[in-house]
Amino acid sequence: MCKIFRRPFLLVINCYAIIFSCKITEGGPGKACARATMDQHQLYNEMLSLISRGFGPLPDKPGETAESTLKALWHCAAGFPLTVEEAEQKPLGMLDAEKIGHLRELIGQRLRGAPLAHLTKRQSFMGISMLAGPGALVPRKETELIAAAAFNLTGLVIAEKGSALVMDLCTGIGNIALSIARAHPAARIYASDISEEALTLARQNQDHCALQGKVDFRQGDCFAPFEHDDFRGMVDVLICNPPYIASKNVCRMPEEIKRYEPGMAFDGGPFGVSIIYNVINGAPRFLRAGGWLCLEVGLGQGRMLERLLKKNQRFQNVKTVADPKGEIRGIVAEAAGIFMG
Ligand SMILES: C[S@@+](CC[C@H](N)C(=O)[O-])C[C@H]1O[C@@H](n2cnc3c(N)ncnc32)[C@H](O)[C@@H]1O
Repeated sequence: MCKIFRRPFLLVINCYAIIFSCKITEGGPGKACARATMDQHQLYNEMLSLISRGFGPLPDKPGETAESTLKALWHCAAGFPLTVEEAEQKPLGMLDAEKIGHLRELIGQRLRGAPLAHLTKRQSFMGISMLAGPGALVPRKETELIAAAAFNLTGLVIAEKGSALVMDLCTGIGNIALSIARAHPAARIYASDISEEALTLARQNQDHCALQGKVDFRQGDCFAPFEHDDFRGMVDVLICNPPYIASKNVCRMPEEIKRYEPGMAFDGGPFGVSIIYNVINGAPRFLRAGGWLCLEVGLGQGRMLERLLKKNQRFQNVKTVADPKGEIRGIVAEAAGIFMG
């Protein structure tokens, strides 16, 4: 049961709508408030059973349960869009008839497959609320693994040199770049994506996260926006969460993904590794000697890419990053020298 309904006083304090309804209802505020609370309690349970019956969460969105989904949509209908994590923490406000209609509509859309983050327009990444939408991939939990590795490496570089040049390729909504900017104000961060729609969201996120001017977002294919002497051999930490699903498998992905999220965010070419290979081949031109490549990889790609990088003389100290189940989801490798080829 939702915590708030076990604490009616908190509900009253948090809700202007109930105060309004108390004033206009016969029988005095006490009775009206109790009735309104009961109604909302009933509504909550009714909506929860509706969502639970049609709920099929994706394994890569572990925070989305029937209950957390309802809370996020409830806040959204009330006019306060929040991430799932924030929605779980905040008491639910009262909904008037119009907002209840909006909640029903949102639940209908979710049950028809629309991603929760598209409805709330919010997604949390590394504990930061970010704007999300159909123009770019909704950041996934597993990406926090490679982001955390990049955070730590950026911190080490800053401790040593006082600043760090960080590059985030395939930035999407800018989640990795902006979360590093938040954690490391001394980092100089550049990010790029081929999709102008994704970059629009990334730039909006810069404002949303109050990190104006902290990341230089550029449009273009992989390294194209950085083919300049300011970057060649200069980058301390190069991060990329590329598309890595084989083209033939994109159409087999769950409806919620293939129908609502941009194909170019997933499609990694015939074997899923086209962009990963581009990044591995291009990175030595941009990394300084001792700089780090941090790459997210698809399920099942880790061992092969680890072997490839270990055989590549341009890299050393190749390490894998595994998820709690032991699956390799990222690879970190140090540039062995500067290669201008
Ligand atoms: C898997 S998503 C990652 C988005 C974001 N970094 C994240 O962690 O959620 C891959 C991103 O790569 C972009 N992309 C696809 N092909 C690209 C290319 N050739 N050059 C640059 N970006 C590309 C897509 O637009 C998409 O935003």
